[in-house]
Amino acid sequence: MSSNMRPLREIRYVLTGLGNIGRTLLELLSAREEPYAERYGVALRCVGVADSSGAAYDAAGLDPALVAAIKRERRGVSALPQHDPDLSAAALVAEADADLLFEATPTSLADGQPGLDIVRAALRSGKDAVLASKGPLVLAYAELAALSDSGGNLTRPRMRFSGAVGGALPTINFGRRDLAGAVIERAELVVNGTTQVILGEMAAGRSFEQAMAIAQAQGIVEPDPTLDVDGWDAACKLVIFANAVLGQPATLADLRVVGIRDVSAEQLQAAQHAGGRVSLVALATRQAQGRYELSVGPVALGPEHPLARLSSQEMGLVITSDLGGRSTLASLEDGPVGTCQAMIRDLLELYGPRRG
Ligand SMILES: NC(=O)c1ccc[n+]([C@@H]2O[C@H](COP(=O)([O-])OP(=O)(O)OC[C@H]3O[C@@H](n4cnc5c(N)ncnc54)[C@H](OP(=O)(O)O)[C@@H]3O)[C@@H](O)[C@H]2O)c1
Repeated sequence: MSSNMRPLREIRYVLTGLGNIGRTLLELLSAREEPYAERYGVALRCVGVADSSGAAYDAAGLDPALVAAIKRERRGVSALPQHDPDLSAAALVAEADADLLFEATPTSLADGQPGLDIVRAALRSGKDAVLASKGPLVLAYAELAALSDSGGNLTRPRMRFSGAVGGALPTINFGRRDLAGAVIERAELVVNGTTQVILGEMAAGRSFEQAMAIAQAQGIVEPDPTLDVDGWDAACKLVIFANAVLGQPATLADLRVVGIRDVSAEQLQAAQHAGGRVSLVALATRQAQGRYELSVGPVALGPEHPLARLSSQEMGLVITSDLGGRSTLASLEDGPVGTCQAMIRDLLELYGPRRG
């Protein structure tokens, strides 16, 4: 450790959800404790964790490497000595002496739970929240924005969710921060990895079932694959983008959503022969009155389209704005690590060093 290190700021966090995302995040934070302390001046202390087996709290700190190891052995929080059988995840978050919630429980489009109550508990008890889960944002964006700084009141706890819309692809940050001052005319997002793989494999001659098996082997398919295939995962991301970036209070009911089930091998091959590809595109187009028309569906992208250059493993976006022209971003990510990086950048945006 360098001798001229700035004084450390302790950040106490609770992590709910210890699956692909939560466990990987713990491993990364535990392995990078020292460089993050040195570079950003933060000392991260995990004080609470929860999974489907229960919750555990220790004001003096839990060992993140131990928690991750327990999860790798397919055991649960109930195996920790600090496990409290009477403590729910939401109660843990409400009662913990902590600064920050990392939320990575499963996304439910039925009621947003368990994440919705967990995020409410964090914001109502004055804690900042960094979400990977989409359900709370899709079903209750306006409510959570009003409880947090996302609604414009900067004295409220802060809410960040850059990993919920395309993992490491900085969809939300780019739209909100880097295109500040410009009016977005059109946003095209390829943000569902499963359909990108399936359509790519089918264009290469595999059947839908074979292509789905390849995507599943990569670990990128939602537990309920219909969410990917029927366009709902992309639709969720577009709803969050519309609320957070376009300032339009959209819900899933406002979108026209078509999945990829009816895309034929002939259509895929025709697009490929023309030098392009078919992708599932989440699209927002600005209408004359300033509102955005929102849709999700398969699009044959011609060879001149920047998103036609994406490989099957990549996600990307093209945003056209009045002042910024056409901006293109693409991201090639490896499993859940990209989403964890997004959660870490949110953390560092909130607590990293600032000028002045
Ligand atoms: N995977 C990705 O690449 C990715 C990318 C962006 C966003 N996301 C979002 O991030 C979230 C997590 O994804 P994931 O892939 O990590 O999911 P996952 O592997 O299914 O993990 C979900 C975790 O939540 C825990 N859990 C379930 N019910 C709970 C409850 N009632 N209280 C507390 N914990 C509970 C599970 O416990 P057990 O371990 O005991 O089962 C598990 O640890 C999802 O909302 C997903 O949509 C995922």
